[in-house]
Amino acid sequence: MRIKNICCIGAGYVGGPTMAVIAQKCPEINVTVVDINEERIEAWNNEDVENIPIYEPGLSDVVKETRDRNLFFSTDVDAAINEADMIFISVNTPTKTYGIGKGMAADLKFIELCARQIARVSKNDKIVVEKSTLPVRTAEALKNILDNTGNGVSYQILSNPEFLAEGTAIDDLMNPDRVLIGGDIDTIEGKEAVEALVDIYAHWVPRERLLTTNVWSSELSKLTANAFLAQRVSSINAMSELCEKTGADVNDVAKAVGMDTRIGVKFLKSSVGFGGSCFQKDILNLVYISKSLGLNEVADYWEQVILMNDHQKRRFAANMVKTLFNTVSGKKIALLGWAFKKDTNDTRESAAIYVADYLLNEQAEIVVYDPKVKMEQIYADLDSLETRSEQENRSLVSVVNDAYEATKGSHAVAVLTEWDEFKQLDWKNIYKDMLKPAFVFDGRRLLVKQTMEEIGFEFYAIGS
Ligand code: NAD
Ligand code: UGA
Repeated sequence: MRIKNICCIGAGYVGGPTMAVIAQKCPEINVTVVDINEERIEAWNNEDVENIPIYEPGLSDVVKETRDRNLFFSTDVDAAINEADMIFISVNTPTKTYGIGKGMAADLKFIELCARQIARVSKNDKIVVEKSTLPVRTAEALKNILDNTGNGVSYQILSNPEFLAEGTAIDDLMNPDRVLIGGDIDTIEGKEAVEALVDIYAHWVPRERLLTTNVWSSELSKLTANAFLAQRVSSINAMSELCEKTGADVNDVAKAVGMDTRIGVKFLKSSVGFGGSCFQKDILNLVYISKSLGLNEVADYWEQVILMNDHQKRRFAANMVKTLFNTVSGKKIALLGWAFKKDTNDTRESAAIYVADYLLNEQAEIVVYDPKVKMEQIYADLDSLETRSEQENRSLVSVVNDAYEATKGSHAVAVLTEWDEFKQLDWKNIYKDMLKPAFVFDGRRLLVKQTMEEIGFEFYAIGS
């Protein structure tokens, strides 16, 4: 089975970059990415590729090469579904905010809408690929909808979870550790569908890195991978607090521990807390699934990863207040970084949002600078917490385009995202323009304590 036309529903952080790379590596396949968000599609079609809606190193080059060659962005979802042999579903699967499972389960309404639309529109057989991260056994529900509302069309459902990390998405897609494809491998049709997707990735990924499993293993492996990654961050963050109390240094501990090849060096960077759209959502989902199956110990075990992360964000902010003589009321505090990690403009669940909210509750005046995040996004993030009125957020928080402007006249600076440019700042100049004593709180272990103290700062870094 040779795939000629691909449709991807959802032009977000996964759909956009993933399809751009598939289009680049498979020039004979037409790839159409569709979305109901007109503004987003318009931005993907922006003549200036530097203004596409997602900032991701290397992405604009791939889009420049492929767009309008064999990569298309459109709001005509029906047409794209109709023409496709293979449809990727890459829509958002946020935590439910209502009803049963509120605050824990994944909200699958967008997935279901896609399934119903595919069923309504399709006239010939399709392979439907779950690219979104989904609870284990979602494919069963998808199949049910497709088989019962379709018009005699036959569907194969594959699970092909995405493992890219934002900020390194293009590298991750070009050179993945593995690509996981789950399908109905007990039937000939299922095997053929799996092979069709394997053939696409085999354009650039070595065969031995293409893993095929049944659908359920694939769905569950994605949640497991994110849970294990987040667990490492919470584990090292738990140690960071112990380090602060004992004179140990969390970077030394991480190095000593990570050099054990059984443990490994990656994902042991202590921080102000993990953010991003997926770790929390996917672990909550895992907790919910475990609870639903009566596996309470399993649920409690994984929930602790989230509780530790909440604690880390709170404790960082609380330490700022305590250090600033137990009050930040009316004090100007500069936040450097708002994105949940460097090299992305994504702010979903960023620790910065929660640190800012905590400080605002203590009546601080906040000034934010982030190299890639826009002012409207910062206000939208704070407003979404509904802690105070939109007007108050705008009067207490200002957003500037320059780190020096942000820090000038401030009592304290908090480094919340590990942007490389913060390392290169002229910290001597920053010190000169701050109120004294001048405090720096490094939530990312980005700056060198000795250098900062030599300049004159009162310097606090997580985990030391
Ligand atoms: P996103 O919110 O950036 O993009 C999803 C897009 O889907 C939105 O633009 C939305 O308008 C669109 N959409 C929703 N319903 C639609 C419909 N019925 N028809 C057409 N378009 C529709 O989300 P994302 O970050 O790309 O994540 C998508 C999925 O991938 C999630 O399940 C997520 O867990 C998973 N994932 C994300 C990442 C990541 O780094 N962001 C990595 C791996 C997996
Ligand atoms: C994560 C996973 O790494 C991806 O494999 C997965 O595909 C993706 O989630 C997803 O399913 O959405 P992402 O959230 O984009 O990717 O970024 P990460 O690099 O994992 O960072 C997540 C958060 O953990 C960030 O806030 C980061 O600063 C923090 N982190 C990461 C640490 O605090 N310490 C570390 O050592 C690593």
